[in-house]
Amino acid sequence: MTLASAPGKVILFGEHAVVSGIPALGCSVDLRARVIVEDLPGRTEVETNLPLAGFTLDLLAGQIRSHEALHAARYVSAVLEELGANDLRIKVDSDIPPGAGLGSSAAIVVATLAALSEHLGLGLPRAEIGEMAHRIEKSVQKGLGSPMDTALATFGGYLQVSSRVQELNLSPLALVIGHTGISHDTRAEVEKVQSLRARHPDLVDPIFEAIGLIAESAAYLIKELRLAELGELMNINHGLLEALGVSSRELSELIYAARGAGGALGAKLTGAGGGGCIIALPGPAGATALEIALRQAGGRVFHARTGGEGVRLGA
Ligand code: PMV
Repeated sequence: MTLASAPGKVILFGEHAVVSGIPALGCSVDLRARVIVEDLPGRTEVETNLPLAGFTLDLLAGQIRSHEALHAARYVSAVLEELGANDLRIKVDSDIPPGAGLGSSAAIVVATLAALSEHLGLGLPRAEIGEMAHRIEKSVQKGLGSPMDTALATFGGYLQVSSRVQELNLSPLALVIGHTGISHDTRAEVEKVQSLRARHPDLVDPIFEAIGLIAESAAYLIKELRLAELGELMNINHGLLEALGVSSRELSELIYAARGAGGALGAKLTGAGGGGCIIALPGPAGATALEIALRQAGGRVFHARTGGEGVRLGA
């Protein structure tokens, strides 16, 4: 039996502008997906224990009994196919809610690759796991997907992503994540923003440039732990994402709860928007005040420490 795990991620600054080549800043969070591989002569099975799920999927019988199981199984079977592996039971267990912009699928793909590499004695180097994971995620998502999620699941830490991926050595942050409970559709949100840009390039391009300036200044503020200024940049970035049309009533309610009763230094949506999550930086009232405020506004809450370890053998 072999166990590997990989982290989820948040985009701190720069979503949507990154699609047009502007640098975005993302980091790993300490919510992890764990994958166990064991021998199962004559059959191949994927078993999930995801939040809201907990069903078994028999790939040969083709039985799929929940959306969450389908999500995990689709990515696990793409990995099995890529490596030509069978006669195995793969158990997936994850802290990362799917469809929320927190890198659930990338963490599952990366952890599955690492567990299989060890179990089958393939000795895949980390960089190769990252590249394969990006290719597999892109093929399952039909062409979509920047290398941000798979690179963060593989290497952890902080990454600046534009046409290339650069590792940054920054301090960890304690963030509170508020999930609207609504799955988001990254492709639809990206198309919406790109179509707005095609219709109003003179307005949208300066917004993208301002987002890029924020992502660049934020790295220094994180390194120096200048949190009040960092919170201000989160609020400005959120305002610009509002202008691009990717916020929603549910996201705004969580944002205002975080900044109001929650006493956050700053809050913004993270990822594609339209649903999914917000991130908030706790203020003097602390993470518990934020948690209470977000729950009262109808959010699911996750506490996350940023910039932790990437894929590893073990939980
Ligand atoms: O929703 P997520 O976390 O998959 O992030 C999407 C980020 C975008 O910038 C909107 C798209 C992309 O591929 O970078």
